[in-house]
Amino acid sequence: MIKIVEESNKKEMATRVNGADCFYSYSKNSSFQRNAIDAAKELIKEAVFSKLDIACLSSSNTFRVTDLGCSMGPNTFLAVQNILEAVENKYRTQWRNSEVPDFQVFFSDQAANDFNELFQSLPPDRNYFAMGVPGSFYSRLFPKAHLHFVYSSFSLQCLSKVPEEVLDRNSPAWNKGRAHYSNSAHQVVEAYSAQYARDMGCFLNARAQEIVEGGLMAFVVPGRPNGTPHAQNYYNMTLDLFGSCLLDMAKKGVIAEDKVDSFNLPMYNASLDEVEAIVKYNGCFSIERMENLPQEKLQPNVFRSTVRAGMENIVRANFGEDILDEFFDSLNKKYEESTSVLESVTAVSLFVLLKRHSK
Ligand SMILES: C[S@@+](CC[C@H](N)C(=O)[O-])C[C@H]1O[C@@H](n2cnc3c(N)ncnc32)[C@H](O)[C@@H]1O
Repeated sequence: MIKIVEESNKKEMATRVNGADCFYSYSKNSSFQRNAIDAAKELIKEAVFSKLDIACLSSSNTFRVTDLGCSMGPNTFLAVQNILEAVENKYRTQWRNSEVPDFQVFFSDQAANDFNELFQSLPPDRNYFAMGVPGSFYSRLFPKAHLHFVYSSFSLQCLSKVPEEVLDRNSPAWNKGRAHYSNSAHQVVEAYSAQYARDMGCFLNARAQEIVEGGLMAFVVPGRPNGTPHAQNYYNMTLDLFGSCLLDMAKKGVIAEDKVDSFNLPMYNASLDEVEAIVKYNGCFSIERMENLPQEKLQPNVFRSTVRAGMENIVRANFGEDILDEFFDSLNKKYEESTSVLESVTAVSLFVLLKRHSK
């Protein structure tokens, strides 16, 4: 039991983004992710305006919102503000006979997230009661029928774990010499896609219990346009460079090749078709809107800090502190060299809006 807890703590430490104490902190290096939040703002406003029913509040005078995988700001504060502005606007225009409720916001992330920074940087003029909720969004986090609006951005691409087959030397899905699936054997791709479906199934089952009937859930994630091969997806191409840098360093003897063989990124970039199939299989939500949002690609000068802020911990946890500078320099160089190829593919974020069915 203790061993399982230790393993899960280690995994959380490795997959968290950089806190305030780091040179490449996520708070200062997440404008790329912020673009997706900006792009979703109007869609959230429309969603609240046309899809949120007052009946979902029943007799409650508190409107409860959560941001799952919130990290530590400022993006989460902006996303939450967009949602609450839309709800307030709805009260002023459509529900004029009802009093604007209190707002309660649950900022949720893995326990290893820098919640201190989050709480210390809460907007002083906020019009909501703020709470922190530690834990994985792949399991239950809230009491039954508690939430009116669930939101998540740039987090649901993170799998709960690397698929086991990919780590098994005796499996046809053993992903030797690569850190990601997009250029790997079809067994590797299938293992990742199955892990994503299992994880999203857990996510939807948990939220189906926690969201009130008629409540909404919106999420934005880096994605893959329907029909685009995995290997020609912008995010996957970038993650593939990750593996290629590690292999170069193994060839130079800086890290052990064995370690590279057993290292894989727990990330999956789904398409809307895949998300739709998983939501339909779950059966607890209606799909109200699904869209590919165009996403600007990272300029090489911001690539290094953005990627390092998000992924430094996973490299440190697996290969140690000493290789960090060399690794991220070499990743940046490869990204710069790949700009013309990356120019030729489109980058999208998926926007998905779901509504909890009546039971
Ligand atoms: C790239 S950050 C996104 C932060 C913020 N939502 C944004 O849009 O800028 C991804 C966040 O997801 C969190 N995360 C990853 N897996 C998670 C899980 N299973 N449960 C909860 N949070 C998770 C990470 O800790 C990290 O803070």
